[in-house]
Amino acid sequence: MKIFLDTANLESIKKFNDMGLLDGITTNPSLLSKEKGNPKDAMEEITKIIKGDVSLEVVSTEYSGMMEEGKRLREYGDNVVVKVPMTPDGLKACKSLSSEGIPVNVTLIFSPNQALLAAKSGAKYVSPFIGRLDDIGEDGMHLIKEIKEIFSNYNFGTEILVASIRHPVHVIDAAKIGADVVTLPPAVLDKMMKHPLTKIGLENFLADWEKLKAGNPDIKI
Ligand code: E4P
Repeated sequence: MKIFLDTANLESIKKFNDMGLLDGITTNPSLLSKEKGNPKDAMEEITKIIKGDVSLEVVSTEYSGMMEEGKRLREYGDNVVVKVPMTPDGLKACKSLSSEGIPVNVTLIFSPNQALLAAKSGAKYVSPFIGRLDDIGEDGMHLIKEIKEIFSNYNFGTEILVASIRHPVHVIDAAKIGADVVTLPPAVLDKMMKHPLTKIGLENFLADWEKLKAGNPDIKI
């Protein structure tokens, strides 16, 4: 399973990229709005730091605007994936951009039928938002199971990019289902690394090392 970071924060992107954890990045206008500085600089920088796919989202709601923006976004780098909303115009733009060799991520997917249609339109990724479904009392992970089942019946070549992830259990469940990608807020990736027994175990090792040093002042590893 590929891991993308769901952020436009350069510091977080560099931090996790240096650990070799990142296969790509997803952004959206809301994530860009959280960062200081010019969003153009951030988008350009992200496409340079990350070798894998970087999703950058259009803000036009009609076809021709999406096409123009999609092509402009693609100028940031060959690894840019144009993110379009799951609307009729978004699907039309998905079809046209994909036909021109520009990969597309169809976002704001909340039903299996939307995922099916996005795949038919040639999307490289579909982004089902599971956390937002959980938020309104639906089962977001059930949507991933349904999309996985449908896609495994056919050869669309479209990847399931699980979005709107809220906690590490979402990641485990998505991996068990066999989702292709999870896109994670930095805080979730941080939590995935930690375990209380790791912390206690390390503290004990270091305390025992200090005891050893007390009896052997010149000892070094
Ligand atoms: C995905 O591409 C979206 O940017 C993101 O996962 C949305 O998550 P949210 O529901 O936490 O805003």
